[in-house]
Amino acid sequence: MSSSKPLTATLIPGDGIGPEIVESTIQIFETLGSPFAWEVQQAGVAGVEALGDPLPKQTLDSIRQNHLALKGPLTTPVGGGFRSSNVRLREEFELYANVRPAKTMIPGRYENIDIVLIRENLGGFYVAHEYLIPVGDNPKAVAVSTGMNTYEGSKRIARFAFEYALKNGRKKITVVHKANILKLLTGVFLDAARDVSKEYEGRVEMDDMIVDACAMQLVLNPWRFDMLLCTNLFGDILSDQIAGLVGGLGMAPGGNIGTNTAIFEAVHGSAPDIAGKGIANPVSILLASAMMLDHVGKQDLATRLRTAIIDTLNVDQIRTGDLKGTASTKQFTDAVCKRLV
Ligand code: NAI
Ligand code: MG
Repeated sequence: MSSSKPLTATLIPGDGIGPEIVESTIQIFETLGSPFAWEVQQAGVAGVEALGDPLPKQTLDSIRQNHLALKGPLTTPVGGGFRSSNVRLREEFELYANVRPAKTMIPGRYENIDIVLIRENLGGFYVAHEYLIPVGDNPKAVAVSTGMNTYEGSKRIARFAFEYALKNGRKKITVVHKANILKLLTGVFLDAARDVSKEYEGRVEMDDMIVDACAMQLVLNPWRFDMLLCTNLFGDILSDQIAGLVGGLGMAPGGNIGTNTAIFEAVHGSAPDIAGKGIANPVSILLASAMMLDHVGKQDLATRLRTAIIDTLNVDQIRTGDLKGTASTKQFTDAVCKRLV
């Protein structure tokens, strides 16, 4: 138990299963002896409903003050509608690095997976400068999207990845790109990574792979990978793929890291298909909150939390439906708490 003053952190329950898995996190953190004082704020569809804004000013102010947040998933309309609040949060606080580890915790199709994916979080095709060109009477005849990577931004994320490797005893970074086709957009990313890698020669290895080949290798021989360094869109796609190697989206945490602010979240979305049923797997957001504990130097608490989760899954054999178990979110949460007392 920490005796120091609590750290105020913003807590965004979010949409869909968000409030259910966030409630689980609050309960478990109470039992763990949370170093955080939560400041609850709304965003996403919940933000629209409560305050008429998917990213209300008071939520932004809260994060600006605390520099630290845990966020449930936020629903984004497909096609039209408001722009993703997730993307806007990353831009607003310059959270340039997205850290998404995938580590085996339960027996499954693959054993001993341990991959950390670092995703560039601000550029690439996510800048989504898009427009339509009408032809004849079809207003949507042509759709154009522009991606953007800068050399400096690419160097910054590459340096982040190499520093992460040094701090966490990782040996090799594979840069994922499509520089055979998107020669400039992903070529600049690869060039910057190569330039940065020279500073780490002899300490961290680097190689590179075209994204489609990487996707196949991740299925055939995922053990060859230690860390992946990806552009924004490829990182989004491959982080779901590596989640699939360790049991699915219910097991995949992430951290969005900037120079002075960090927002932790699950990799998954708001799962509208199971929302409100009380069956969501809270492990992803719990592992994200463990990353948040590491981030603030509370490694002891993070380790206790991860151990309690692993024991609940494997010793107690209590699992939610996505992991072929029968436990509800509440039953799983109570079981983790029992492990923590
Ligand atoms: P999703 O990740 O919400 O769901 C995909 C599938 O995985 C669904 O079958 C869902 O039931 C299952 N699943 C996800 N998390 C689970 C959990 N914790 N426990 C058990 N099963 C789980 O992806 P989808 O359906 O494509 O997106 C839904 C919404 O979420 C969209 O509006 C999307 O924009 C948003 N989204 C938000 C993210 C964020 O806030 N960071 C990330 C990804 C999507
Ligand atoms: Mg995604």
